[in-house]
Amino acid sequence: MAESKPASGKNNGQANYSISPSGEKFPLPLKEDYENENLRIRDLSERARGEGKEIVVVMGVGFVGAVMAAIIADTKNKQGHPSKFVIGCQRPSTRSYWKIPLLNRGISPVKAEDPEVDTLISRCVLEKKTFTATYNNDCLELADCVVVDVQCDFSKNSLGNMRTGETDMAALDATMRTIGEKIRPSCLVLIETTVAPGTTEFVAWPILKKAFAERGIKSVPLLAHSFERVMPGRDYVSSIRDFWRVCAGCNTEARKRVVKFLEQVLNTKDYPLTVMDRPIESETTKIVENSYRATILAYLNEWSLFAERNGIDLIKVINAIKMRPTHSNIIFPGPGIGGYCLPKDGGLGFWAYRHILGFEDGNSVFKITPLAIDINDTRALHVAEITRDALRNIGRYIAGADVLICGASYRQDVGDTRYSGSELVVRKLTEMGAEMRVHDPYVDHWYELENQDSYPDPAHSWKRFFRNQDGLKKIVVRKDLKKVLKGVEAVVLAVPHAPYLELEPDDVVAWAGNPLAVIDCYGILSDEKIRRYFELGCEVKALGRGHIQRIKESVRKKARP
Ligand SMILES: NC(=O)c1ccc[n+]([C@@H]2O[C@H](COP(=O)([O-])OP(=O)(O)OC[C@H]3O[C@@H](n4cnc5c(N)ncnc54)[C@H](O)[C@@H]3O)[C@@H](O)[C@H]2O)c1
Repeated sequence: MAESKPASGKNNGQANYSISPSGEKFPLPLKEDYENENLRIRDLSERARGEGKEIVVVMGVGFVGAVMAAIIADTKNKQGHPSKFVIGCQRPSTRSYWKIPLLNRGISPVKAEDPEVDTLISRCVLEKKTFTATYNNDCLELADCVVVDVQCDFSKNSLGNMRTGETDMAALDATMRTIGEKIRPSCLVLIETTVAPGTTEFVAWPILKKAFAERGIKSVPLLAHSFERVMPGRDYVSSIRDFWRVCAGCNTEARKRVVKFLEQVLNTKDYPLTVMDRPIESETTKIVENSYRATILAYLNEWSLFAERNGIDLIKVINAIKMRPTHSNIIFPGPGIGGYCLPKDGGLGFWAYRHILGFEDGNSVFKITPLAIDINDTRALHVAEITRDALRNIGRYIAGADVLICGASYRQDVGDTRYSGSELVVRKLTEMGAEMRVHDPYVDHWYELENQDSYPDPAHSWKRFFRNQDGLKKIVVRKDLKKVLKGVEAVVLAVPHAPYLELEPDDVVAWAGNPLAVIDCYGILSDEKIRRYFELGCEVKALGRGHIQRIKESVRKKARP
């Protein structure tokens, strides 16, 4: 097929191909390809059914869906034989189509630090042949069970005010409509997407019921909800398969079916299921557990500022508190709270209260959840302030300064950059005129910057909250720390990736070629290293670590004749 305008795995309505992260171009399917694809899938499914396997369609093969699909495809019956045939179904959009041909080669579309992701997917696709992927949603007609793993985003319309945000249910709505048009009446539909509470019963179920009525189907659609608790990182697969699940069905039959399904595909023997009465309870569980986490992180922001201004090291305070078993989950917030879930999930709940459940008093009922998200969303801006101040203290200006940020991802030792605090640090420093460089051992491409004109969609990049951002499209994530440090005037240690914990001040200063400003966002530097940086003529500042001032004074005192 002829190739036209360049696309880059993003939403470019003009392009007729989709590009994978490694740069491979996949022509989008043409109208005439659909029939053959349908035959391919039907043929595989009939064979699988003949072998006694259930047919499961997973809608959306993104971060969660691709791995969940492989876990289902790996299921064995009591005799040890594969018991499910899984069809991963994905829209053939320019942004996402590449995931299908890649999966069909046995290659994971998700880059994960967990080696089991790659082996699981290749085993199921290539050896067990229990997993295939398609763009043709006619596969829904074959399903005994459909698992929905498409995204449901919460878009914020201003920085630091989540109350003005809105839920984007377009993908979920479209998926539910297609499912309603195609599934067999006895098919179980399981929504795994994190949704605004009420969505399963009051949005998705009516869509399915209406579609059934239009098709003359008398029975009630079987719909259930069970959210994901997946954690990116080294235990990616395990965090889906070997972890506690919550579920609920819209009626008794759906509840029975979802319990049976999850017991077959997940390790519910060691991690028992919690079965709720209604999907709104399962949906709310996800929203509350993530809002709780967002809140305890946000709560420490004010104490972090208190510590900075009063000679206290909050890291030591937290370690002292953690000695109490009742308080052992207290955590230092770093330069903001990222990942796909914590920044948005409270917003889904706040939004649902009004727009699904019909209450008008959301602003007076919800105080803590919106405030927590707003604090988390803006904490990173303070990193830019202390970087500016540190440079000033060594006689330099932020405008025009070469600044290196170490760590682009949202947490240590993973390559996931979604809503990372580092993105905001880079954007704010760029707005102030800094020349930014980026290092991250786990990140190859920083999509949020490289594709800022189209990702997550044209209107929703954080770019829009800052001036002077255009150059960030060209940002390259560097891997050679020694090289990238050359000539740098400030280094922001934004994420405690393992290699950054080992860094020696003497090396950093030697590689930079001059004393520099060092900004610690995550309690990365020991007191000895802070002291050494000062001895080498550097300035050090950190989030929540006011005791640095004392170390600086003692180094100065020693240096005085
Ligand atoms: N990623 C995480 O760490 C994480 C953790 C816990 C829960 N979750 C939840 O899991 C859900 C999925 O998240 P994700 O990270 O996998 O998202 P994602 O964006 O990686 O994947 C969603 C996929 O669905 C596809 N899709 C969209 N519309 C479709 C349609 N109509 N038909 C078929 N496919 C369609 C998209 O192209 C994409 O590939 C979200 O609700 C999220 O909140 C994610």
